[in-house]
Amino acid sequence: MADVGVLRGSGPPMETGMALENRFRFTGVECVTFAVEDLDDACRFAKDWGLNEAASPEQGMRLFATVDGSEVRVVEVDRTRADRSPIGSPSGMSELTWGVEDEAALKALAAELGRDRRAEFDAAGVLHSVDDLGINLAFRVARRRSVPYEVTRYNAPGSPGRLNARAPRYQAAKPHEISHIAIGVDDAGEAVKFYIERLGFIVSDRYANRGIFMRCSPVGNHHHVFFMNAKQRGTRFNHLAFKVRDIHEVIGGGQHLDSLGWQTFAGPGRHLISSACFWYFQSPFGGSWEYAADEDMVDEHWETQDFDAVSHIFSEWTFGLEKSDGTLRGPISASKEQAL
Ligand SMILES: [Fe+2]
Repeated sequence: MADVGVLRGSGPPMETGMALENRFRFTGVECVTFAVEDLDDACRFAKDWGLNEAASPEQGMRLFATVDGSEVRVVEVDRTRADRSPIGSPSGMSELTWGVEDEAALKALAAELGRDRRAEFDAAGVLHSVDDLGINLAFRVARRRSVPYEVTRYNAPGSPGRLNARAPRYQAAKPHEISHIAIGVDDAGEAVKFYIERLGFIVSDRYANRGIFMRCSPVGNHHHVFFMNAKQRGTRFNHLAFKVRDIHEVIGGGQHLDSLGWQTFAGPGRHLISSACFWYFQSPFGGSWEYAADEDMVDEHWETQDFDAVSHIFSEWTFGLEKSDGTLRGPISASKEQAL
């Protein structure tokens, strides 16, 4: 950690140690809808990833779910329909659905968003709107449900947490839940304003104004959404992360994907920010998908930091990611601001 500079820069507010509210009672990412060029290829990837296919609510749509009911919906690109047009191209996210605790929160959101943009309920009671970048957003009462499982126990010197029991083995991953989504933009500092000022999201950590990790609620994930200045211009889906049970499931899942011919984007490795062990794969969804384990969990006492956006900030360690000169071929661009 000695190389990680901590900055005090300009940008969106950094809430530390103060009382944080969750005005709209957000719970997390409920569903990501993708519009893709090759529906069959995308669905094959989703199944190989370990998602369960469920009955689709709509003609021409395929529906996949994690263990806890987090959803991925997939449709073929149809540029004549806003709800089947991806941000970015040629494939990408067409709508991002956030969960809230109850109907009252949905009504409050509709009133807030309806002040200056569309805020319409569909027949299923899902609220549809849009952010300042043109990303289609939806909000619904959370359907994700906590599903108990046996938490992996570890042996450490002098502390045998798993006595007389073999460690778990994984032939493939079974993603437990959606963790977060990352979106590439031209100016992350601008992109997050809507989420902070209108929805009450909280900055958890930041690379100056170039990569901003936000959570939708004071207690829970380190981040639910990450806006980053990507190398490519424009707004586009970058990656979607799924929580698995432990690092062994990250590796087992990654090896399974690799054996099926899917290509690694980055990893396996461990992030410096959020502490997660990761393995990213290139996907047919216009960006990558990430297996993640052991991410930081936070509450209102989390101390946010503003990190120097140096090339190696992406990972503490990884296999196959760093160039021989130590620079990264990963997703963070150095073009927007100079690192101090
Ligand atoms: Fe991620």
